[in-house]
Amino acid sequence: MEKPEQPVRRPWIVGVSGASGTPYAASVIRALLAAGEAVDLVVSRAARLTILDETGIAFRDAHWRTDLAEWLGIAADGPEDVRYWPAGDFAAGPSSGSYPAKGMLVVPATTGAVAGIALGLSKDLLQRVASVTLKERRPLVVCVRETPLNGVTLKHLVELDAQGAVVLPASPGFYAGGSTVRELVDFVAGRVLDAVDVPHTLYRRWEGELGAAARGTERTGRSV
Ligand SMILES: Cc1cc2nc3c(=O)[nH]c(=O)nc-3n(C[C@H](O)[C@H](O)[C@H](O)COP(=O)(O)O)c2cc1C
Repeated sequence: MEKPEQPVRRPWIVGVSGASGTPYAASVIRALLAAGEAVDLVVSRAARLTILDETGIAFRDAHWRTDLAEWLGIAADGPEDVRYWPAGDFAAGPSSGSYPAKGMLVVPATTGAVAGIALGLSKDLLQRVASVTLKERRPLVVCVRETPLNGVTLKHLVELDAQGAVVLPASPGFYAGGSTVRELVDFVAGRVLDAVDVPHTLYRRWEGELGAAARGTERTGRSV
């Protein structure tokens, strides 16, 4: 008797590069998992420094599941539908366009990652996967974190936009009524998920009424 076909696992690939803003990445990963999405994770070498700096967690390849669970603040046995690929592993699955994936979210993105992706450098797995994502015409969101921006980075961002990537600066809006750091982080993470149509309730959407957010803290998943 023939076995019923297993549905193909088609993850979102989350690339964490070494910009300040690791809470944005944690929020995006948590929300993807909450939405029932599979996640493949790539953490650049420099991102280990920012994770250490901003959370105190030493993110280790060999112990990624426990380190990720601690980072996300979830149960110690770790998230179920996550695969982790070391940043130096060019033989990793997502290195090939034939690996099933929905697309890639680079959160946060350094100016170095922006440059490498715009120029197709593929200097590590994160940049290689971004190049693959573009060549396969899959969605790519680049959540750049730097201020101010120099002219070279601005040119690279325009190039990424021309190639079809969504350039989404880590720039929280205040119209959603967020006042805590967590709420402002979740706003940016929510906009990242909006860019790829993954449902979430990370922030209160604009509904056309001035001052509504300040009057109530209720969050809604409805579209703007
Ligand atoms: C604590 C810390 C914070 C950093 N913050 C930023 C940042 O916000 N934006 C940025 O573009 N680079 C930032 N950098 C510099 C990058 O980590 C560095 O350019 C690195 O080469 C980027 O490599 P990657 O793109 O492979 O992660 C930071 C570095 C450290 C150590």
